[in-house]
Amino acid sequence: SAAPAERGPLAGRRVLVTAGPTHEPIDPVRYIANRSSGRQGFAIAEAAAAMGADVQLVAGPVHLPTPSGVTRIDVETAREMAMAVDAALPADIAIMVAAVADWRTAGAAEQKIKKTGGALPVLELAENPDILAELAKDPRRPALLVGFAAETENVLDHAQAKLARKGCDWIVANDVSGDVMGGSDNAVHIVTADGVESWSNLPKDQVARKLMEKIADAVVR
Ligand code: CTP
Ligand code: CA
Repeated sequence: SAAPAERGPLAGRRVLVTAGPTHEPIDPVRYIANRSSGRQGFAIAEAAAAMGADVQLVAGPVHLPTPSGVTRIDVETAREMAMAVDAALPADIAIMVAAVADWRTAGAAEQKIKKTGGALPVLELAENPDILAELAKDPRRPALLVGFAAETENVLDHAQAKLARKGCDWIVANDVSGDVMGGSDNAVHIVTADGVESWSNLPKDQVARKLMEKIADAVVR
């Protein structure tokens, strides 16, 4: 990783970002995944580094270059992401953008599952750790903890409920009923205890810069 920018509003601050999907293995050749490209999270990491922060980016499996000035830790599964987040602490600010798989298979098969000509295989699922909710309860909780919420309906209602349930400070809610996941633009609502701020549809790098400016305003006093 390159040295962080020496100047900027976030100079000296440690920022932790999670991004991308997770992959949960079914067997050695198959996995459960989602449509996250990692673009919004990578753009946020890049914007934070450009503002002088010391940025650690915990990335699920994505096809993106590492933003300049960012330390990247690659992971595959939700449990690996949880361990990488733990290892990256402490942080002043954490922004959890990853689309973490809610479930993994209860036990991945060690060999490729074969068609038997008989009964269909049944995937038994187990719940993954909630990395954001656990970080909110951790003694090393960052002073500003931001979650994302991808919703396909009732976006603000779900986001407000999520803010309370997760114990984070802000939720950045986006409507993913269109082609947001993997796309280049994002229309988000910033949900905080003070209310809701809705931004127009913007390229993901502009959403990232605006969000990091709002974060810098909140933490640099
Ligand atoms: N998150 C996490 N670990 C998980 C699931 C989610 O850290 N196992 C984080 C995401 O990175 C995001 C926030 O929690 O910042 C909200 O994720 P989301 O999937 O919208 O919330 P869930 O609580 O999983 O609720 P649901 O998927 O049922 O809407
Ligand atoms: Ca989820």
